[in-house]
Amino acid sequence: VLKASLRAKELIRQILAISRSTEEQQRIPIDISSIIKEALKLLRSSLPSSIEMRQKIRKSVALADPTQIHQVLMNLCTNAAHAMGDKGILEVRLSPVDLSESDLAGQAIFNLKPGAYLRLTVSDTGSGIDAKTMERIFDPYFTTKEVGKGSGLGLAVINGIVKRHEGAITVQSVPGKGTTFSIYFPRLDSRPEATMQVEDPPQRGSERILLVDDEPALMEMATSILERLGYKVTGQTDSVTALEVFRSSPDEFDLVITDYTMPNLTGMDLAKEVRRIRPDIRIMLCTGFSEKITPDHMKELGVGLLMKPYGMREISEAIRKTLDARKGGCFGEGNQKGPDCR
Ligand SMILES: Nc1ncnc2c1ncn2[C@@H]1O[C@H](COP(=O)(O)OP(=O)(O)OP(=O)(O)O)[C@@H](O)[C@H]1O
Ligand SMILES: [Mg+2]
Repeated sequence: VLKASLRAKELIRQILAISRSTEEQQRIPIDISSIIKEALKLLRSSLPSSIEMRQKIRKSVALADPTQIHQVLMNLCTNAAHAMGDKGILEVRLSPVDLSESDLAGQAIFNLKPGAYLRLTVSDTGSGIDAKTMERIFDPYFTTKEVGKGSGLGLAVINGIVKRHEGAITVQSVPGKGTTFSIYFPRLDSRPEATMQVEDPPQRGSERILLVDDEPALMEMATSILERLGYKVTGQTDSVTALEVFRSSPDEFDLVITDYTMPNLTGMDLAKEVRRIRPDIRIMLCTGFSEKITPDHMKELGVGLLMKPYGMREISEAIRKTLDARKGGCFGEGNQKGPDCR
């Protein structure tokens, strides 16, 4: 469940990255076969058991973003499963291929240079794709599925990912018989370096925190994380009440952590009010995504920024950064300055 949630977080990041057309990817030398196998295990449990799954996976290393490769396979297999309904054969193969000048000669769609590649193929025995549909399958938002069933983004996302990996896609389909998608990625013949990542334990602290999030489940989760790290936490789900709590005893807190989007009093408004009461108070804003707030913007306002969803590591690091910052204590409004402002 945790793995799936983290992948979902990555998926959203990916969609945002595409729509903002910035390239956010982490390409590392990896053995693609391990990602494919993991994804297939996940798929097996979600596909009807009347769909037979076959796999022929050879170890193949590429310079790739693991999350994106996972996503390519999930999107292809989901399409294949949809095309088959509840009966058919889904076959996934991964193998190294060497493409020579003459292999590529007749293939106009291959914009590839001759060289070492790995080929990922996903075949189904489903409905197939007719010529007219074929012309549009990679278009964003093109779908033949009914409203609510498909967004038409699956293949568009795959196309973007494959392009950024300097790869190529081909499709063969016979209407009524089935479809095969083949994806080529440049291969690395050296082994991936075994990178051991030893993570430091999360940073602890004992400061007093006023935590505000209008979502009770999130407020409770963050409270329990912070208490485990040693902090003394007062949790609030209503920002107006939170402000009253702060107003009645402003010196009881070292840090205010607040959600950004909240009814009545937003996180930004709460931050401003709290600063008016105590100019030197440290503040951290949490947000999922907003065009309006950027890390630079936050710096200017002298408040810390924490992107949602966060885990223990992210929140503990953000807290230490905000609390230990020497110059971050000023809120750029009027002449009010905290003691740490020089
Ligand atoms: N394996 C397949 N067999 C038959 N048709 C397919 C297959 N893969 C894709 N298609 C066709 O291509 C269209 C676009 O696919 P794409 O994955 O981009 O969007 P979608 O599956 O309709 O929606 P989404 O993936 O966003 O849920 C599909 O609606 C379908 O008509
Ligand atoms: Mg799809």
